[in-house]
Amino acid sequence: MEVIIKADYAEMSKEAAKIIANLLYEKPNAVLGLATGSTPIGLYKELVRMHKEEGLDFSKVVTFNLDEYIGLPATHDQSYNYFMNDNLFKYINVNPENVHVPNGMARDVEKFCEWYEDEIDKAGGIDLQVLGIGGDGHIAFNEPGSSLASRTRMKTLTEETIVDNARFFANKDDVPRYAITMGVGTILEAGHCLMLANGEKKAGTVKKAIEGPVTQMVTASALQLHPQVTVILDEPAASKLELKDYYKWVYNNKPKC
Ligand code: F6R
Repeated sequence: MEVIIKADYAEMSKEAAKIIANLLYEKPNAVLGLATGSTPIGLYKELVRMHKEEGLDFSKVVTFNLDEYIGLPATHDQSYNYFMNDNLFKYINVNPENVHVPNGMARDVEKFCEWYEDEIDKAGGIDLQVLGIGGDGHIAFNEPGSSLASRTRMKTLTEETIVDNARFFANKDDVPRYAITMGVGTILEAGHCLMLANGEKKAGTVKKAIEGPVTQMVTASALQLHPQVTVILDEPAASKLELKDYYKWVYNNKPKC
């Protein structure tokens, strides 16, 4: 696991965008796994800037989002479909046919989840998966207690997640209780996982995920089992890491070979 610590949110976002841009220069038809939430907004802004000012091309890119609330149509302004369009897709030249966000209105959720997994397989698997981390240590909506082998499925959100996400809704009771989410097992099959976290509020959870034991109680800790993970943090999110100085030294002294 490579841990990169940047001064602030803007630097964290730029570093993440650079990693994605480098992948697209190397593999223009890369399959990207994408996340929603507050964390990746700066990353998406930077990708939009790179598209507009530097010609970063998304025309052959395929995308799969991690999750979606059950019961919210794509037109709902708090749905993750809406979020992705509003923060990224409408500003870049991605082909709408290549975009996949789980359908929160699917009639048969189980069938939909099987189809979603099949589509990821058919696309050749996810090359790079962008992740945030929840206050309860979740990746995607894999809440504490989720199997580390789980696949795309319906998940019941914890009270902590509902309270965390209530900031986007008129009131807490409007936050959906259920979501469709890629599983931890699905995420671990991505070629490269790129997890971002910012702010002091995330520091304790980040420490548990990176330096604590691998446990289904903090599903982000499963990333420790993945051979290619990059974690990019701002200083406040990194503030509780035991090996903080070591991670910084490693990053600043990469051998040139
Ligand atoms: C969103 C997702 C979630 C968020 C996490 C952090 O697609 O999968 O796991 O990444 O809840 O959310 P923010 O970034 O809002 O703190």
